[in-house]
Amino acid sequence: MVRTIITVPDPLLREQSAPVEDPRAPEIQELITDLKESCLAAEGIGLAAPQLGVAKRVIVINHPQGKPYALVNPEIFWASSGTSALEEGCLSIPGIIVRVTRPKKVKIHALDERGEWREIAASDLLAKILQHEIDHLNGVLITDYAEGRPEHPETPQISPGALLKV
Ligand code: NI
Repeated sequence: MVRTIITVPDPLLREQSAPVEDPRAPEIQELITDLKESCLAAEGIGLAAPQLGVAKRVIVINHPQGKPYALVNPEIFWASSGTSALEEGCLSIPGIIVRVTRPKKVKIHALDERGEWREIAASDLLAKILQHEIDHLNGVLITDYAEGRPEHPETPQISPGALLKV
């Protein structure tokens, strides 16, 4: 079911999400389905459960080169010292673009939707999407990276490949 994506200043976006015990539990399977459908409906490339108002550690990735998939309890266990900056938007913060500096590469582990452990080594766009979505699980939003710089939602300098619908 497509659910409404909540937006700032909804306090649910600032909650610390709880780990999931069993990804195969019916309510989690339903949450995963809703996340995928809601992400596709919004033409997003990633979505986190808190954006549907659910404080559980579940994200979906809808990388342009694949089908949407879910990651449960994702955790970054390695990040490159090399960083890069990219303009990011967020489906929960309409009209705002922030240039965010993050590690270029990360390695994460997570449970997939069948409850099996997966390890993902990500770079470039996927690394950024994963970090953006995992931030959501910790109540962190792109505006937290703005460092007091003015934001110009009307005239953002958007690079090709900017991360917009996440
Ligand atoms: Ni977002």
